[in-house]
Amino acid sequence: MPANVSLTNVVKKFGPVNVVNDVNLEITPGEFVVLVGPSGCGKSTTLRMVAGLEHISGGTISIDGKVVNHLAPKDRGVAMVFQNYALYPHLTVRDNISFGLRLGRTPRKEIDAKVDRAASILELGPLLDRQPAELSGGQRQRVAMGRAIVRDPQVFLFDEPLSNLDAKLRTQMRTEIKRLHARLGNTVMYVTHDQLEAMTLADRIVVMRKGVIEQIGTPSELFNSPATSFVATFIGSPPMNVFPCTLTSDADRLAVNVGGDKLALPERARHAVANSKELLFGVRPEDIHLAPRDNTQAIHGHVELVEPLGGESFVHVRIGDATLIVRSEGRKLVESDKPITLHVDLQRIYLFDVATDRCVFHDTEAAS
Ligand SMILES: Nc1ncnc2c1ncn2[C@@H]1O[C@H](COP(=O)(O)OP(=O)(O)OP(=O)(O)O)[C@@H](O)[C@H]1O
Ligand SMILES: [Mg+2]
Repeated sequence: MPANVSLTNVVKKFGPVNVVNDVNLEITPGEFVVLVGPSGCGKSTTLRMVAGLEHISGGTISIDGKVVNHLAPKDRGVAMVFQNYALYPHLTVRDNISFGLRLGRTPRKEIDAKVDRAASILELGPLLDRQPAELSGGQRQRVAMGRAIVRDPQVFLFDEPLSNLDAKLRTQMRTEIKRLHARLGNTVMYVTHDQLEAMTLADRIVVMRKGVIEQIGTPSELFNSPATSFVATFIGSPPMNVFPCTLTSDADRLAVNVGGDKLALPERARHAVANSKELLFGVRPEDIHLAPRDNTQAIHGHVELVEPLGGESFVHVRIGDATLIVRSEGRKLVESDKPITLHVDLQRIYLFDVATDRCVFHDTEAAS
């Protein structure tokens, strides 16, 4: 049965340093929650505390309503899948998958039934008698997942399970993990620093930064309503264009200066930015267009570089002191080293306060 996982004021100190600082997180039964953030921000430490592989320095962790702070890992109803798979090289796939069960008192018949079920879910049937050295990276990854599945955990914990795989296999395994979750319905905590993995897998994403939670939300909430410029530039690829800007108020019209052009802001932005001394302007690559549309306004720049991807391309455009990336749909490429007129969707622009990094203005109605 899937369980809820609850972290309340969780702290982890290594020596004098709080590497995880007052983390609060409620995960509902069956939910797929992904922890993302830059290297060293405390993702693995948080997961390892839930697994019981790391003592907690403060706060409470409960699983299925029961405080597990002092429970051994094996008594928490969790199964963890690691980045390096941690398979036993001298054991067959079957014995690797059943290893944990054979240590306990599970009857042989039941072990075989569980291994066969896991093997069929993960399509490992024909490989059960092989050893890890005779498997591909993706197959080894599936064995590691098989070992977790046979334990019928209430909670799956994944720490960057796909980062040792090449890009194509990673995409394929990502789909398999999603299918697996749809089928088994377990609660999942999944750590990655790959925002694409986070966006495609998560019911909710937890963005961490320097040991604290920066924002929690569904993929579309984080994409459309980032709380800070940090989240805005972490979620989405290529990231949101963010650069310093100044505002003007000509003839009582509020506008943001972008290069030599002005983008009109709605009147209610005036109140939103009243307390901000310095602002950052943000707009996503997909909200800048090469042809005019409704609610767009023109700005002028110079094409520095074009990255063709086949069905679309990323156009790097110099505007004043900043370089913007524009996602251009279609196969036709714009020419490099030429002037260009861009059309910015005025309903999809963001303003961030430099001092707090917080988003102070965006059009919430347009975003939803
Ligand atoms: N055993 C330890 N002793 C001291 N410091 C540690 C220990 N383990 C982790 N840290 C520190 O705690 C911080 C968080 O580490 P953690 O492994 O949780 O980061 P992470 O977000 O998983 O990063 P990555 O994406 O690189 O895996 C880092 O600054 C790290 O150096
Ligand atoms: Mg880590």
